[in-house]
Amino acid sequence: MKDILAELHERREGARLGGGQKRIDAQHAKGKLTARERIDLLLDEDSFEEYDMFVSHRCADFGMENNKPAGDGVVTGWGTINGRMVYVFSQDFTVLGGSVSATHAQKICKIMDMAVQNGAPVIGLNDSGGARIQEGVDALAGYAEIFQRNIMASGVIPQISVIMGPCAGGAVYSPAMTDFIFMVKDSSYMFVTGPDVVKTVTNEHVTAEELGGASTHTKKSSVADGAFENDVEALAEVRRLVDFLPLNNREKPPVRPFFDDVDRIESSLDTIIPDNANQPYDMKELILKVADEGDFYEIQEDYAKNIITGFIRLEGQTVGVVANQPMVLAGCLDIDSSRKAARFVRFCDAFEIPILTFVDVPGFLPGTSQEYGGVIKHGAKLLFAYGEATVPKVTVITRKAYGGAYDVMASKHLRGDLNYAWPTAEIAVMGAKGATEIIHRADLGDAEKIAAHTQEYEDRFANPFVAAERGFIDEVIQPKSTRKRVSRAFAMLRGKQLKNPWKKHDNIPL
Ligand code: HXC
Repeated sequence: MKDILAELHERREGARLGGGQKRIDAQHAKGKLTARERIDLLLDEDSFEEYDMFVSHRCADFGMENNKPAGDGVVTGWGTINGRMVYVFSQDFTVLGGSVSATHAQKICKIMDMAVQNGAPVIGLNDSGGARIQEGVDALAGYAEIFQRNIMASGVIPQISVIMGPCAGGAVYSPAMTDFIFMVKDSSYMFVTGPDVVKTVTNEHVTAEELGGASTHTKKSSVADGAFENDVEALAEVRRLVDFLPLNNREKPPVRPFFDDVDRIESSLDTIIPDNANQPYDMKELILKVADEGDFYEIQEDYAKNIITGFIRLEGQTVGVVANQPMVLAGCLDIDSSRKAARFVRFCDAFEIPILTFVDVPGFLPGTSQEYGGVIKHGAKLLFAYGEATVPKVTVITRKAYGGAYDVMASKHLRGDLNYAWPTAEIAVMGAKGATEIIHRADLGDAEKIAAHTQEYEDRFANPFVAAERGFIDEVIQPKSTRKRVSRAFAMLRGKQLKNPWKKHDNIPL
């Protein structure tokens, strides 16, 4: 018996060493942690239960029969984050570059199946050279099995990907189908094909960082939702995100203890709107002042900054926030901001997270680049996402709500449950100047007349009361009491039941 136990111990120690000390040292030298060190940081202490530690590949080509590392380049299992269950796979770059073989894929698929059956998120720590070249189609088949599971799990359990090394080929398409992608600055890359292939095919000379580094994907492509300084920070931030999320689509998000006053009055909000309607103010200030303890988890912070998306808590309960940001492009809707917000709204709706929308929007951005880029279809994504969402929706118009963008931003007409406006709200087809120039074109040469018409339009529409008279605004509220009003609104809506008609699935404009 003792011998058998000793053998188990020895085998385990061997498996834990992955690709060996030399490769572990090389991993550390690049500023990266190993697969197991990452799991230790991600999960609660001693909570990790590992499976398939001794699985090895079945490839007998290219000398692979003599190179069969235990675990086959990925560590899989489950554990807890602040006491709540999550499944995790962590690719081990020290073993054949973390490349995905048929058996490596089987290990990932096994925990994905468990996660769906048992209703808990999957977190993938990706550090992989993609499909294992020596295995050919077996490796591709393995990837496709993972892809299929990503698709089936979408909207059922949260799926989070952390990119922690060079990820190419299949290694990027699986994360692309998950809910959130985070990257580590300077040590992680995502591309369909690397710089060498790019050079050969298109004759472009580009570095890995330019092609697929964290900056590229958080600022330009929007493939990634956030970037962090190093492995430690990335894993700590994933823990923070998981705290906001439900375990699956049948459960509510967790209710966390909170130490903030629900009735907190923020007098400074009464003066946040500048006297001049063309002057911006920082919408983030409002979000932070409304949130429990000023805690805001922003998603896609560096992309399409004219709209803000992320999670806060109100009375300890998770709320998704979407807000126009007047500081950037006057807070207009355009292709990028519509796509960004639409995806966020759909995530919230899929996982029963109520949505709070702050509106200050002068309209859609005009111009050929927007039209050629398909702003009609991309803008429709946000319209569609809000309209189909059945979760509690509370909207506060702080200032401008012009034109189609008024309709889009969780208006009453898209089944907004409670639509509030500050007294500074201006709800109209467009701004007074533009409106006057169109409907009083004949008077354009007469500055006095134009000024009078502009004033008349402002008096009529630069306020929330016409909309309030029609019941499109449920109440005009004091800015300083916004936290109290929206918290009470969501409390009132906790029992909301609303179902869309049966269909196989909708056909959102993609
Ligand atoms: C087998 C691989 C591998 C792979 C890396 N390795 N990628 N082994 N299959 N795909 C091995 C290397 O041989 C090396 O082994 C070790 O991992 C470390 O790799 P290095 O190249 O030394 O590391 P580095 O210089 O950091 O470069 C990392 C890399 C590069 C950028 C990932 O290795 C690379 O370009 N790999 C190939 C990427 C790729 O084209 N993959 C296929 C994608 S196609 P030793 O023994 O020397 O330590 C795909 C299709 C899926 O995935 C379907 C999509 C829809």
